[in-house]
Amino acid sequence: MVHKINPAELQKTVSSVPMISASASRLLQITSQPDHEVMDVVNLVKTDANLTARVLKVVNSAAYGLVNQISSVDRAVSYLGQQVIVSIAIESCAGELFAKELSGYEAVGGDLWKHDLRAAIAAREVVIQSGADLSPDLAFTAGLLHDIGKALISDYLRGSAPEAVALINSHDSLDYLAAEEHLVGVDHTIAGEALAKAWQLPPELTAVIRHHHQPSQAEEAWRPLVYAVHLGDSIAMMGGFGTGSDSMRYKLDPHYADFIQINANILANVMLVVDTEFNKLSEGLSDTGEKS
Ligand SMILES: [Fe+2]
Ligand SMILES: [Fe+2]
Repeated sequence: MVHKINPAELQKTVSSVPMISASASRLLQITSQPDHEVMDVVNLVKTDANLTARVLKVVNSAAYGLVNQISSVDRAVSYLGQQVIVSIAIESCAGELFAKELSGYEAVGGDLWKHDLRAAIAAREVVIQSGADLSPDLAFTAGLLHDIGKALISDYLRGSAPEAVALINSHDSLDYLAAEEHLVGVDHTIAGEALAKAWQLPPELTAVIRHHHQPSQAEEAWRPLVYAVHLGDSIAMMGGFGTGSDSMRYKLDPHYADFIQINANILANVMLVVDTEFNKLSEGLSDTGEKS
């Protein structure tokens, strides 16, 4: 039977999750700054031998089909792009969390990573193709991390998916987030925010994790970014890549149009790019012996 998670229990769960590595943390800080230089990213990768090795392995993997191998970090970073570097760094240090089987959502291992990666690419494309005044890199990183709270509360929700679905079906106004709150007392955005604080993530990333289902409640400064990820998240869901049972009744906040201008054409383009980029990126990561 499920039970309500009390604050002490939530903190205990958060503390049981390994900290992200110092270099991943620094990388998130750097790439969150709109005026950062690519060299800052290159220099950071160089300070971490494991990250350097992973980056070179990915760039030289079959997915990228290079004729000549790349052996310098500078070239690897410029070839792959900063978003891929961020994905590699996060996956290297928090991959287990993303790969976790989300039994509480009746989703299999790896579904969270796949959903987050698709939402990340979609959020970035929404920003680029709508011409929004936002950093595409930041939208990508925020998309990658937005649902991290699911990995924290999934075990508590184990066996409750039929109850959650029944609850949603009997109340028109309820979405899956509300069902989580009803069942275990904490939804995945609250749990995710607790982890974001423990990881000392930049405030804009924490805001996305906390408010991606209700962007209008985010602090004004971060609202456009939160809306971009909200759209990226729903595009990932529309493409059939949710995380199990929670795909039902995703509430799209219609006020996105105040922040991001998209139309049917842009949406179709974004969905196309998401498919292509997702396949390439996940192939690159799995080629190196890690999960996709
Ligand atoms: Fe979510
Ligand atoms: Fe999501």
